[in-house]
Amino acid sequence: MTILVTGGAGFIGSNFVLDWLAQNDETVVNLDALTYAGNPENLATLRGDDRHVFVRGEIGDHVLVEQLFATHRPRAVVHFAAESHVDRSIHGPGDFVRTNVNGTYALLEAARGYWSTLPEGERAAFRFHHVSTDEVYGSLAPDAPAFTETHPYEPNSPYSASKAASDHLVRAWHHTYGLPVLTTNCSNNYGPFHFPEKLIPLMIVNALAAKPLPVYGDGRQVRDWLYVGDHCSAIRTVLERGRPGETYNVGGWNEKPNIEIVHTVCALLDELRPDPAGPYARLITHVKDRPGHDRRYAIDARKIERELGWRPAETFESGIRKTVAWYLEHAEWVARVQSGAYRDWLQRHYGETA
Ligand code: NAD
Ligand code: DAU
Repeated sequence: MTILVTGGAGFIGSNFVLDWLAQNDETVVNLDALTYAGNPENLATLRGDDRHVFVRGEIGDHVLVEQLFATHRPRAVVHFAAESHVDRSIHGPGDFVRTNVNGTYALLEAARGYWSTLPEGERAAFRFHHVSTDEVYGSLAPDAPAFTETHPYEPNSPYSASKAASDHLVRAWHHTYGLPVLTTNCSNNYGPFHFPEKLIPLMIVNALAAKPLPVYGDGRQVRDWLYVGDHCSAIRTVLERGRPGETYNVGGWNEKPNIEIVHTVCALLDELRPDPAGPYARLITHVKDRPGHDRRYAIDARKIERELGWRPAETFESGIRKTVAWYLEHAEWVARVQSGAYRDWLQRHYGETA
Protein backbone atom coordinates (compact mmCIF):
# COMPACT_ATOMS: atom_id res chain seq x y z
CA MET A 1 0.00 0.00 0.00
CA THR A 2 1.12 3.54 -0.75
CA ILE A 3 0.06 7.07 0.11
CA LEU A 4 0.86 10.20 -1.88
CA VAL A 5 1.87 13.14 0.32
CA THR A 6 2.23 16.63 -1.15
CA GLY A 7 4.44 19.23 0.54
CA GLY A 8 6.20 16.59 2.61
CA ALA A 9 9.47 18.56 2.81
CA GLY A 10 7.81 21.47 4.62
CA PHE A 11 7.27 21.93 8.34
CA ILE A 12 4.14 19.86 8.99
CA GLY A 13 4.58 17.58 5.97
CA SER A 14 8.06 16.44 7.01
CA ASN A 15 6.88 15.79 10.58
CA PHE A 16 3.98 13.79 9.12
CA VAL A 17 6.20 11.69 6.83
CA LEU A 18 8.68 10.95 9.64
CA ASP A 19 5.89 10.02 12.07
CA TRP A 20 4.12 7.91 9.42
CA LEU A 21 7.19 5.83 8.60
CA ALA A 22 8.07 5.50 12.29
CA GLN A 23 4.69 3.84 12.83
CA ASN A 24 4.14 1.63 9.78
CA ASP A 25 5.78 0.37 6.60
CA GLU A 26 3.35 1.80 4.07
CA THR A 27 5.32 3.60 1.34
CA VAL A 28 5.13 7.38 1.09
CA VAL A 29 5.50 9.06 -2.29
CA ASN A 30 6.44 12.62 -1.35
CA LEU A 31 5.74 15.25 -4.03
CA ASP A 32 7.28 18.61 -3.17
CA ALA A 33 8.35 21.54 -5.35
CA LEU A 34 11.06 22.54 -2.83
CA THR A 35 10.17 26.19 -2.64
CA TYR A 36 12.09 28.21 -0.04
CA ALA A 37 9.89 26.45 2.58
CA GLY A 38 10.80 22.92 1.49
CA ASN A 39 13.87 21.53 3.20
CA PRO A 40 14.98 18.02 2.18
CA GLU A 41 17.34 18.01 5.17
CA ASN A 42 14.24 17.57 7.36
CA LEU A 43 14.03 14.08 5.84
CA ALA A 44 17.74 13.24 6.13
CA THR A 45 17.06 10.26 8.41
CA LEU A 46 15.11 8.63 5.55
CA ARG A 47 17.99 8.59 3.08
CA GLY A 48 18.32 5.10 1.64
CA ASP A 49 14.91 4.08 3.01
CA ASP A 50 12.91 2.42 0.20
CA ARG A 51 9.63 3.28 1.92
CA HIS A 52 10.17 6.98 1.06
CA VAL A 53 10.05 8.01 -2.61
CA PHE A 54 10.87 11.70 -2.98
CA VAL A 55 9.76 13.45 -6.17
CA ARG A 56 10.60 17.06 -6.81
CA GLY A 57 7.71 18.65 -8.68
CA GLU A 58 4.70 20.93 -8.72
CA ILE A 59 1.22 19.83 -7.70
CA GLY A 60 0.04 21.86 -10.70
CA ASP A 61 2.08 19.74 -13.15
CA HIS A 62 -0.75 17.49 -14.29
CA VAL A 63 1.44 15.30 -16.52
CA LEU A 64 3.76 14.52 -13.61
CA VAL A 65 0.93 14.05 -11.10
CA GLU A 66 -1.06 11.75 -13.42
CA GLN A 67 2.10 9.72 -13.96
CA LEU A 68 2.61 9.43 -10.17
CA PHE A 69 -0.94 8.16 -9.69
CA ALA A 70 -0.55 5.64 -12.52
CA THR A 71 2.83 4.38 -11.35
CA HIS A 72 2.36 4.24 -7.59
CA ARG A 73 -1.42 3.64 -7.37
CA PRO A 74 -1.82 5.32 -3.95
CA ARG A 75 -4.77 4.43 -1.74
CA ALA A 76 -4.84 8.01 -0.40
CA VAL A 77 -3.54 11.54 -0.93
CA VAL A 78 -2.56 13.74 2.01
CA HIS A 79 -2.36 17.26 0.62
CA PHE A 80 -0.14 19.65 2.61
CA ALA A 81 1.54 21.54 -0.27
CA ALA A 82 0.76 25.24 -0.05
CA GLU A 83 2.21 28.67 0.31
CA SER A 84 1.67 29.06 4.05
CA HIS A 85 2.99 32.39 5.36
CA VAL A 86 0.45 35.19 5.83
CA ASP A 87 3.04 38.00 5.66
CA ARG A 88 4.39 36.69 2.34
CA SER A 89 0.82 36.53 1.00
CA ILE A 90 0.41 40.22 1.76
CA HIS A 91 3.58 41.11 -0.18
CA GLY A 92 2.96 38.72 -3.09
CA PRO A 93 -0.42 36.97 -3.34
CA GLY A 94 0.19 35.50 -6.81
CA ASP A 95 2.05 32.38 -5.66
CA PHE A 96 -0.73 31.71 -3.14
CA VAL A 97 -3.39 31.67 -5.83
CA ARG A 98 -1.16 29.61 -8.13
CA THR A 99 -0.35 26.86 -5.62
CA ASN A 100 -3.22 26.92 -3.12
CA VAL A 101 -6.05 27.42 -5.61
CA ASN A 102 -4.86 26.33 -9.07
CA GLY A 103 -2.52 23.67 -7.68
CA THR A 104 -5.26 22.14 -5.53
CA TYR A 105 -7.60 22.18 -8.53
CA ALA A 106 -5.02 20.34 -10.67
CA LEU A 107 -4.39 17.78 -7.93
CA LEU A 108 -8.12 17.18 -7.45
CA GLU A 109 -8.59 16.61 -11.16
CA ALA A 110 -5.67 14.16 -11.34
CA ALA A 111 -7.01 12.34 -8.25
CA ARG A 112 -10.50 12.18 -9.74
CA GLY A 113 -9.21 10.81 -13.05
CA TYR A 114 -7.26 8.07 -11.27
CA TRP A 115 -9.99 7.30 -8.71
CA SER A 116 -12.65 6.92 -11.40
CA THR A 117 -10.67 4.08 -13.00
CA LEU A 118 -10.28 2.09 -9.78
CA PRO A 119 -12.16 -1.17 -9.17
CA GLU A 120 -15.19 -0.71 -6.90
CA GLY A 121 -13.57 -1.76 -3.58
CA GLU A 122 -10.53 0.48 -4.10
CA ARG A 123 -12.74 3.34 -5.24
CA ALA A 124 -14.74 3.16 -2.03
CA ALA A 125 -11.60 2.98 0.13
CA PHE A 126 -9.73 5.84 -1.63
CA ARG A 127 -9.32 9.11 0.33
CA PHE A 128 -8.24 12.65 -0.61
CA HIS A 129 -7.26 14.37 2.65
CA HIS A 130 -7.01 18.15 2.36
CA VAL A 131 -5.00 19.85 5.12
CA SER A 132 -6.44 23.27 5.82
CA THR A 133 -6.43 26.01 8.41
CA ASP A 134 -8.62 27.75 10.99
CA GLU A 135 -7.81 31.06 9.25
CA VAL A 136 -10.56 30.41 6.69
CA TYR A 137 -13.12 31.30 9.39
CA GLY A 138 -11.76 34.84 9.89
CA SER A 139 -11.35 36.68 13.18
CA LEU A 140 -13.26 36.12 16.46
CA ALA A 141 -14.44 38.77 18.94
CA PRO A 142 -12.86 38.35 22.40
CA ASP A 143 -15.80 36.49 23.96
CA ALA A 144 -17.20 34.77 20.86
CA PRO A 145 -17.42 30.96 20.95
CA ALA A 146 -14.60 29.07 19.25
CA PHE A 147 -14.87 28.05 15.57
CA THR A 148 -17.01 24.98 14.92
CA GLU A 149 -17.11 23.22 11.55
CA THR A 150 -20.27 25.16 10.62
CA HIS A 151 -18.79 28.61 11.27
CA PRO A 152 -19.16 30.83 8.18
CA TYR A 153 -16.08 31.28 6.01
CA GLU A 154 -14.76 34.86 6.34
CA PRO A 155 -11.11 34.77 5.22
CA ASN A 156 -9.27 38.07 5.61
CA SER A 157 -5.78 37.64 4.15
CA PRO A 158 -4.71 36.56 0.66
CA TYR A 159 -3.37 33.37 2.31
CA SER A 160 -6.61 32.51 4.10
CA ALA A 161 -8.69 33.45 1.04
CA SER A 162 -6.62 31.08 -1.10
CA LYS A 163 -7.00 28.28 1.46
CA ALA A 164 -10.75 28.95 1.69
CA ALA A 165 -10.97 28.67 -2.10
CA SER A 166 -9.15 25.34 -1.98
CA ASP A 167 -11.52 24.07 0.76
CA HIS A 168 -14.48 24.96 -1.45
CA LEU A 169 -12.99 23.13 -4.43
CA VAL A 170 -12.41 20.03 -2.31
CA ARG A 171 -16.00 20.18 -1.03
CA ALA A 172 -17.36 20.56 -4.56
CA TRP A 173 -15.35 17.60 -5.88
CA HIS A 174 -17.09 15.48 -3.26
CA HIS A 175 -20.61 16.80 -3.81
CA THR A 176 -20.43 16.85 -7.60
CA TYR A 177 -18.21 13.89 -8.46
CA GLY A 178 -18.36 11.79 -5.29
CA LEU A 179 -14.59 11.94 -4.68
CA PRO A 180 -14.10 10.65 -1.09
CA VAL A 181 -12.55 13.75 0.47
CA LEU A 182 -11.70 14.66 4.07
CA THR A 183 -10.82 18.17 5.22
CA THR A 184 -9.14 19.17 8.47
CA ASN A 185 -8.99 22.81 9.59
CA CYS A 186 -6.22 23.18 12.13
CA SER A 187 -4.97 25.94 14.40
CA ASN A 188 -1.38 27.25 14.71
CA ASN A 189 1.22 24.50 14.83
CA TYR A 190 4.65 24.65 16.45
CA GLY A 191 7.49 22.17 16.88
CA PRO A 192 10.62 20.82 15.13
CA PHE A 193 11.50 21.93 11.57
CA HIS A 194 9.31 25.07 11.79
CA PHE A 195 10.74 27.60 9.33
CA PRO A 196 12.05 30.63 11.25
CA GLU A 197 9.80 33.12 9.51
CA LYS A 198 6.90 32.13 11.80
CA LEU A 199 6.43 33.54 15.30
CA ILE A 200 7.80 30.83 17.62
CA PRO A 201 10.92 29.73 15.70
CA LEU A 202 11.68 33.36 14.76
CA MET A 203 11.63 34.37 18.43
CA ILE A 204 13.93 31.47 19.38
CA VAL A 205 16.53 32.08 16.67
CA ASN A 206 16.48 35.86 17.05
CA ALA A 207 16.86 35.64 20.83
CA LEU A 208 19.85 33.32 20.50
CA ALA A 209 21.42 35.81 18.07
CA ALA A 210 20.62 38.74 20.45
CA LYS A 211 18.45 40.31 17.74
CA PRO A 212 15.18 42.19 18.40
CA LEU A 213 12.05 40.06 18.92
CA PRO A 214 9.49 41.80 16.67
CA VAL A 215 5.97 41.72 18.15
CA TYR A 216 3.31 43.05 15.79
CA GLY A 217 1.17 45.86 17.25
CA ASP A 218 0.18 45.40 20.89
CA GLY A 219 0.90 41.65 20.83
CA ARG A 220 -2.58 40.89 22.25
CA GLN A 221 -3.67 38.87 19.17
CA VAL A 222 -4.74 35.39 20.21
CA ARG A 223 -3.86 32.11 18.50
CA ASP A 224 -4.71 28.50 19.51
CA TRP A 225 -1.45 26.53 19.56
CA LEU A 226 -1.06 22.83 18.76
CA TYR A 227 2.13 20.76 18.87
CA VAL A 228 2.87 19.51 15.34
CA GLY A 229 3.00 15.85 16.41
CA ASP A 230 -0.61 16.18 17.60
CA HIS A 231 -1.65 17.62 14.23
CA CYS A 232 -0.01 14.62 12.54
CA SER A 233 -1.87 12.18 14.82
CA ALA A 234 -5.15 13.99 14.09
CA ILE A 235 -4.57 13.62 10.34
CA ARG A 236 -3.79 9.92 10.71
CA THR A 237 -6.98 9.49 12.76
CA VAL A 238 -9.18 11.32 10.24
CA LEU A 239 -7.59 9.48 7.32
CA GLU A 240 -8.31 6.16 9.01
CA ARG A 241 -11.77 6.77 10.45
CA GLY A 242 -13.13 10.09 9.17
CA ARG A 243 -16.36 10.13 7.16
CA PRO A 244 -15.89 11.15 3.50
CA GLY A 245 -17.25 14.62 2.80
CA GLU A 246 -16.83 15.74 6.43
CA THR A 247 -14.62 18.45 7.83
CA TYR A 248 -12.96 18.22 11.25
CA ASN A 249 -11.54 21.13 13.24
CA VAL A 250 -8.24 20.36 14.96
CA GLY A 251 -6.87 22.45 17.82
CA GLY A 252 -4.97 22.32 21.06
CA TRP A 253 -7.38 24.05 23.48
CA ASN A 254 -4.49 26.46 24.01
CA GLU A 255 -5.57 30.03 23.32
CA LYS A 256 -2.76 32.44 24.09
CA PRO A 257 -1.89 36.05 23.22
CA ASN A 258 1.29 36.42 21.17
CA ILE A 259 3.04 38.47 23.84
CA GLU A 260 2.56 35.63 26.34
CA ILE A 261 4.04 33.16 23.84
CA VAL A 262 7.08 35.38 23.39
CA HIS A 263 7.56 35.73 27.17
CA THR A 264 7.29 31.94 27.57
CA VAL A 265 9.96 31.36 24.91
CA CYS A 266 12.21 33.94 26.60
CA ALA A 267 11.74 32.33 30.03
CA LEU A 268 12.61 28.87 28.69
CA LEU A 269 15.72 30.23 27.01
CA ASP A 270 16.67 32.03 30.25
CA GLU A 271 16.49 28.64 31.96
CA LEU A 272 18.11 26.45 29.28
CA ARG A 273 20.65 28.84 27.69
CA PRO A 274 21.04 31.89 29.96
CA ASP A 275 22.49 34.98 28.30
CA PRO A 276 25.11 36.80 30.40
CA ALA A 277 23.82 40.07 28.90
CA GLY A 278 20.48 39.63 30.72
CA PRO A 279 16.97 38.16 30.31
CA TYR A 280 15.96 37.55 26.69
CA ALA A 281 12.74 39.54 27.21
CA ARG A 282 14.88 42.69 27.02
CA LEU A 283 14.93 42.09 23.22
CA ILE A 284 11.12 42.33 22.81
CA THR A 285 10.34 45.16 20.37
CA HIS A 286 6.84 46.20 19.35
CA VAL A 287 6.73 46.88 15.60
CA LYS A 288 4.12 48.01 13.07
CA ASP A 289 1.10 45.71 12.97
CA ARG A 290 0.38 43.24 10.12
CA PRO A 291 -2.17 44.78 7.70
CA GLY A 292 -5.62 43.24 8.25
CA HIS A 293 -4.26 41.30 11.24
CA ASP A 294 -6.84 38.81 12.57
CA ARG A 295 -7.35 39.44 16.26
CA ARG A 296 -8.31 36.03 17.55
CA TYR A 297 -8.59 32.41 16.41
CA ALA A 298 -9.91 29.58 18.59
CA ILE A 299 -10.84 26.05 17.60
CA ASP A 300 -13.69 24.02 18.99
CA ALA A 301 -12.24 20.51 18.55
CA ARG A 302 -15.16 18.61 20.08
CA LYS A 303 -16.32 16.96 16.84
CA ILE A 304 -13.06 15.10 16.18
CA GLU A 305 -12.97 14.03 19.84
CA ARG A 306 -16.61 12.93 19.94
CA GLU A 307 -16.67 11.11 16.60
CA LEU A 308 -13.11 9.84 16.26
CA GLY A 309 -11.74 9.87 19.81
CA TRP A 310 -8.82 12.22 19.03
CA ARG A 311 -7.37 14.60 21.62
CA PRO A 312 -3.96 16.29 21.70
CA ALA A 313 -1.33 14.44 23.73
CA GLU A 314 0.86 17.48 24.50
CA THR A 315 0.03 20.37 26.76
CA PHE A 316 1.38 23.74 25.66
CA GLU A 317 3.89 23.59 28.52
CA SER A 318 5.31 20.20 27.44
CA GLY A 319 5.22 21.03 23.71
CA ILE A 320 6.91 24.42 23.93
CA ARG A 321 9.66 23.04 26.21
CA LYS A 322 10.36 20.24 23.69
CA THR A 323 10.36 22.78 20.87
CA VAL A 324 12.82 25.20 22.48
CA ALA A 325 15.07 22.26 23.40
CA TRP A 326 14.90 20.99 19.78
CA TYR A 327 16.10 24.33 18.42
CA LEU A 328 18.93 24.43 20.97
CA GLU A 329 19.99 20.91 19.96
CA HIS A 330 19.76 21.62 16.22
CA ALA A 331 21.90 24.74 15.87
CA GLU A 332 23.31 23.41 12.60
CA TRP A 333 19.84 23.00 11.05
CA VAL A 334 19.07 26.59 12.06
CA ALA A 335 22.40 27.89 10.71
CA ARG A 336 21.91 26.13 7.36
CA VAL A 337 18.38 27.52 7.03
CA GLN A 338 19.52 31.02 7.93
CA SER A 339 22.51 30.99 5.58
CA GLY A 340 20.50 29.39 2.77
CA ALA A 341 22.94 26.45 2.72
CA TYR A 342 20.02 23.98 2.94
CA ARG A 343 19.28 24.91 -0.66
CA ASP A 344 22.71 23.61 -1.74
CA TRP A 345 21.05 20.20 -1.74
CA LEU A 346 19.15 21.26 -4.83
CA GLN A 347 22.41 22.10 -6.56
CA ARG A 348 24.05 18.85 -5.49
CA HIS A 349 21.09 16.67 -6.34
CA TYR A 350 19.61 18.33 -9.39
CA GLY A 351 22.60 20.29 -10.69
CA GLU A 352 20.61 23.48 -10.84
CA THR A 353 20.43 26.80 -9.08
CA ALA A 354 17.19 27.12 -7.17
P1 NAD B 1 5.34 25.03 4.78
O1 NAD B 1 5.33 26.34 4.09
O2 NAD B 1 6.33 24.78 5.86
O3 NAD B 1 5.55 23.85 3.70
C1 NAD B 1 4.89 23.85 2.46
C2 NAD B 1 5.55 22.79 1.59
O4 NAD B 1 4.83 22.76 0.33
C3 NAD B 1 7.00 23.09 1.27
O5 NAD B 1 7.78 21.91 1.40
C4 NAD B 1 6.97 23.56 -0.18
O6 NAD B 1 8.17 23.27 -0.90
C5 NAD B 1 5.78 22.77 -0.72
N1 NAD B 1 5.15 23.43 -1.88
C6 NAD B 1 4.80 24.73 -2.01
N2 NAD B 1 4.27 24.96 -3.22
C7 NAD B 1 4.25 23.76 -3.86
C8 NAD B 1 3.79 23.34 -5.14
N3 NAD B 1 3.25 24.20 -6.02
N4 NAD B 1 3.91 22.03 -5.47
C9 NAD B 1 4.47 21.13 -4.60
N5 NAD B 1 4.93 21.50 -3.39
C10 NAD B 1 4.81 22.78 -3.02
O7 NAD B 1 3.86 24.80 5.29
P2 NAD B 1 3.34 24.11 6.63
O8 NAD B 1 3.36 25.10 7.73
O9 NAD B 1 4.04 22.82 6.80
O10 NAD B 1 1.82 23.87 6.25
C11 NAD B 1 1.42 22.69 5.54
C12 NAD B 1 -0.06 22.75 5.27
O11 NAD B 1 -0.76 22.84 6.50
C13 NAD B 1 -0.50 23.95 4.44
O12 NAD B 1 -1.51 23.53 3.56
C14 NAD B 1 -1.04 24.93 5.48
O13 NAD B 1 -2.04 25.74 4.91
C15 NAD B 1 -1.63 23.98 6.49
N6 NAD B 1 -1.67 24.47 7.88
C16 NAD B 1 -0.54 24.98 8.47
C17 NAD B 1 -0.60 25.37 9.80
C18 NAD B 1 0.61 25.92 10.50
O14 NAD B 1 0.49 26.38 11.66
N7 NAD B 1 1.81 25.88 9.93
C19 NAD B 1 -1.80 25.27 10.51
C20 NAD B 1 -2.93 24.77 9.86
C21 NAD B 1 -2.85 24.35 8.55
O1 DAU C 1 -3.86 29.46 12.26
C1 DAU C 1 -3.19 28.58 11.41
C2 DAU C 1 -2.16 29.35 10.62
O2 DAU C 1 -1.09 29.65 11.52
C3 DAU C 1 -1.62 28.58 9.41
O3 DAU C 1 -2.68 28.37 8.52
C4 DAU C 1 -0.50 29.37 8.72
O4 DAU C 1 0.04 28.62 7.66
C5 DAU C 1 0.59 29.64 9.76
O5 DAU C 1 1.61 30.41 9.18
C6 DAU C 1 0.00 30.35 10.96
O6 DAU C 1 -0.42 31.70 10.61
P1 DAU C 1 -0.17 32.94 11.59
O7 DAU C 1 -0.19 34.18 10.81
O8 DAU C 1 -1.07 32.86 12.78
O9 DAU C 1 1.32 32.56 12.08
P2 DAU C 1 2.63 33.44 12.33
O10 DAU C 1 3.61 32.57 13.03
O11 DAU C 1 3.06 34.14 11.09
O12 DAU C 1 2.11 34.53 13.36
C7 DAU C 1 1.54 34.14 14.60
C8 DAU C 1 1.10 35.40 15.29
O13 DAU C 1 2.27 36.14 15.68
C9 DAU C 1 0.29 36.33 14.42
O14 DAU C 1 -0.69 36.98 15.22
C10 DAU C 1 1.31 37.35 13.92
C11 DAU C 1 2.29 37.44 15.06
N1 DAU C 1 3.69 37.72 14.69
C12 DAU C 1 4.26 36.96 13.72
C13 DAU C 1 5.56 37.18 13.33
C14 DAU C 1 6.21 36.36 12.22
C15 DAU C 1 4.40 38.70 15.35
O15 DAU C 1 3.88 39.37 16.25
N2 DAU C 1 5.70 38.93 14.98
C16 DAU C 1 6.32 38.21 13.97
O16 DAU C 1 7.49 38.48 13.67
